[in-house]
Amino acid sequence: MKKTILTGLRPTGNLHLGHLFGAGQNYVKLQDEYEFFLEIADVQALTDNFNNPEKVRKNVYEITMDLLAIGIDPKKVNIFLQSKIPEIAELTVYYSNLVTVNRLFRNPTVKAEVAQKKELFGNNGESITYGFLGYPVSQAADITALSGEVVPVGDDQLPLLEQCREIVRKFNNIYGETLKEPEAYLSNVTRLKGLDGNEKMGKSLGNAIFLVDSEEVISKKVMAAVTDPSKIKKDDPANPDICMVYYYHKLVTPDSELKNVCSECKAGKRGCVSCKKELINNLCEFLKPIKEKRKQYEDNPKLVKDILDNGTCNAKKKAEDTLRKVKHAMKIDY
Ligand code: TRP
Repeated sequence: MKKTILTGLRPTGNLHLGHLFGAGQNYVKLQDEYEFFLEIADVQALTDNFNNPEKVRKNVYEITMDLLAIGIDPKKVNIFLQSKIPEIAELTVYYSNLVTVNRLFRNPTVKAEVAQKKELFGNNGESITYGFLGYPVSQAADITALSGEVVPVGDDQLPLLEQCREIVRKFNNIYGETLKEPEAYLSNVTRLKGLDGNEKMGKSLGNAIFLVDSEEVISKKVMAAVTDPSKIKKDDPANPDICMVYYYHKLVTPDSELKNVCSECKAGKRGCVSCKKELINNLCEFLKPIKEKRKQYEDNPKLVKDILDNGTCNAKKKAEDTLRKVKHAMKIDY
């Protein structure tokens, strides 16, 4: 019997290279070994985008196409839509008795996000909503509804997984052994830096290359990338290890070429502009098959919808089964 993987993504924007190298490539590997449920977490996305439903709706399809384009195989992975599984919302209600408000306020992931979202939740988080504060409970419902045993996440998500494990333990303690405690599987050990040298590539940081970026957009972004600041003139020698252009060359440039990039840079035989142009070219080559695959789905929205419907149907059956057990354990199976 294959173990079950459950992971989720908030549909708030397209996937970028950070997602691909950090998590996406890993999902593609794991899809052969596990029973895989991949949630498009639109209900969770609404907790901090409740005032922008169009954005969430659009990105449900955008992100699904991105996932398919990077090689997630819908025959192996159930891509499903959270809002179409009311069982998850119902579980959230039952689990909300098992977690204190203080515990949620102390959750480091929630804290960090509230601090970032001042416009929405106030300078000191005084306007935080009940829904946002409670999203870790809803995430515990996502995981347990599908009986996720392994949850591939980035390290920023670990406090959410811990919260889920606590809820599971408390549930089992009070109502009897019913739910499985999930394990984290750290999937983004390779966190990609941004073009600006920031430790993380992120949509909100404005330093990301999206899989759907055109050559023109990629050019603009790469041309503005941070290089060795001590290099002033074209033939100054420089240190590739502190250059973001070289950092990205390492990801997409063939080894034979890469050696030259490094040695020429160190020897002052490579101007940054031509080095950037080569990178732009190689990035576009790298993204070409992904874009080609994506185009097939863009041209066939019905297929994308069918894939989501099918994944959701499979996920719903599992969630119904979990809910039945939960209600039985809680003595509300009237
Ligand atoms: N919170 C996750 C994120 O922001 C998305 C998510 C929703 C998730 N449900 C999940 C991750 C269940 C793992 C398991 O990236």
